Amino acid sequence: MKNDKVPIMVRKKILIVDDEKLVRWALARKCAECGYQSVEAADGEEALSVLQNESPDAILLDVHLPGQSGIEVLEKLKQSGETRTVIMMTADPQLEDVKTALRLGAYDFVSKPINYEELGVTLQNALEAGALRTEVESLRGEVRRRAGYHEVIGVSRKMTELMKFVQKVAASEASTILIQGESGTGKDLVAKTIHYQSARKDKPFVAINCSAIPETLMEAELFGHERGAFTDAKAMKKGLFEVADEGTLFLDEIGELSPLLQAKLLRVLEDQVIRRVGGVRDIQVNVRVIAASNRDLERAVREGHFRQDLYYRLAIISVFLPPLRERKEDVPALVDFFVGHYNRKFRRNVQGLNEETQRLLMSYNWPGNVRELKNALERAMLLEEGTLLRPDDLPFAVASGRSGTAGSAPTAMEVSSPAAQEPLEGGSTRRLPVLSIPEGGTSLEDIEHALVELALRQSHGNQIKAAKLLDISRDALRYKMKKFGLVHGEEEQPASPTRP
Ligand SMILES: Nc1ncnc2c1ncn2[C@@H]1O[C@H](COP(=O)(O)OP(=O)(O)OP(=O)(O)O)[C@@H](O)[C@H]1O
Ligand SMILES: [Mg+2]
Repeated sequence: MKNDKVPIMVRKKILIVDDEKLVRWALARKCAECGYQSVEAADGEEALSVLQNESPDAILLDVHLPGQSGIEVLEKLKQSGETRTVIMMTADPQLEDVKTALRLGAYDFVSKPINYEELGVTLQNALEAGALRTEVESLRGEVRRRAGYHEVIGVSRKMTELMKFVQKVAASEASTILIQGESGTGKDLVAKTIHYQSARKDKPFVAINCSAIPETLMEAELFGHERGAFTDAKAMKKGLFEVADEGTLFLDEIGELSPLLQAKLLRVLEDQVIRRVGGVRDIQVNVRVIAASNRDLERAVREGHFRQDLYYRLAIISVFLPPLRERKEDVPALVDFFVGHYNRKFRRNVQGLNEETQRLLMSYNWPGNVRELKNALERAMLLEEGTLLRPDDLPFAVASGRSGTAGSAPTAMEVSSPAAQEPLEGGSTRRLPVLSIPEGGTSLEDIEHALVELALRQSHGNQIKAAKLLDISRDALRYKMKKFGLVHGEEEQPASPTRP
């Protein structure tokens, strides 16, 4: 058979809440006639308990119920985050009830005695609306996932308190928020979390990196331009402030913004109006600005690189993300999360880490913070063929048990490690460059050369291992060895500096 996928028809289910047995019976019959299943409840309490086990697609809810009224039940449902479609029924529609029910989000009102013909149509419309809403929700979820938005993992006290604060900030009216923290601590992720947990979540989240764009373009990028504002401005273009209207604008690396734009930004933050380049008219915008920086902005202010007034304006609400080395309790939770993530991504079934690997991850200082941990795990999962990650799978810096240097890239320690500065046995006495670049500068090639040597030293001359350490192919390694003169004679033997 060609088409082996037979669509499975799931019959929609309706919860009927009415104290009169006869009414429930008649409604259940109508449901069956329309092809729906039904479950019944005689009062609000029973309805709430049915909902614990059943998952109906819509609810028919009588207003006049013994005990709590239908309106009260509706209120409870909505408070608990219920999103299913609710249709109210009543014999004597009171305007107040109708208004309250609709305000609470009821889909429709039907009056008793019930016109079953009409009820069939109402139910069908209600179910279609519900399905549409579910689809929109799932598409929204998809958009968020694509935007790199996922849970912020953290069990340490620092992180749990910080996340409570972040939730408050998200729900607040705050129009500017500053997020600071070292590179890789999760500033982007927290910015997205603030947006997606705020009332602005269905409006745009727009991000721009202030260091990536030259000043002249940046102004038009942020504020837009009128037609003819400059040579290339063939048509009017909206800026990001307008695009992000009613949503959130994330200004990453705010410390890199030019002085002119710092002044312009301050004005926008204070007045919530922008003016397009070449324009004469002020345009009102309603944008929450989240700024992030991995530079110490206060210091930048003291040193005169960043406007003090802008800093104060941004820092009214300030979130500081602690480096990972100050919250090592988060490492196991992050490991779980990322192993799960890469298991799904690479279709693997890695169970976790062996003991030594756990110890290494806990004792390392993570200068590149969560990003470095994430990358280390990705690499380990690609290298490991078994179900437990082992020290061999880890990048050299982590596996070597060195503690790492705060705030520097992982390769920094590798290159500047004392072992790396020993003269080579093969005659070369070139000292390896250190990553804090010397006054006179250093070349990228020298660093590459040093890393290749180091990898060979570390792997005792084993090219396969060295290539793994550098995450390159063996051919690429051989090419580099040749290029840097690390080959003995014709047979392409690796220089093995540590061999006696
Ligand atoms: N607490 C966390 N839970 C889960 N993932 C995290 C957490 N913190 C960071 N990450 C992940 O680590 C990576 C780096 O985080 P992010 O890009 O947010 O860092 P950043 O502070 O913006 O860094 P930079 O200053 O370099 O821009 C991302 O993939 C992010 O999803
Ligand atoms: Mg970032």
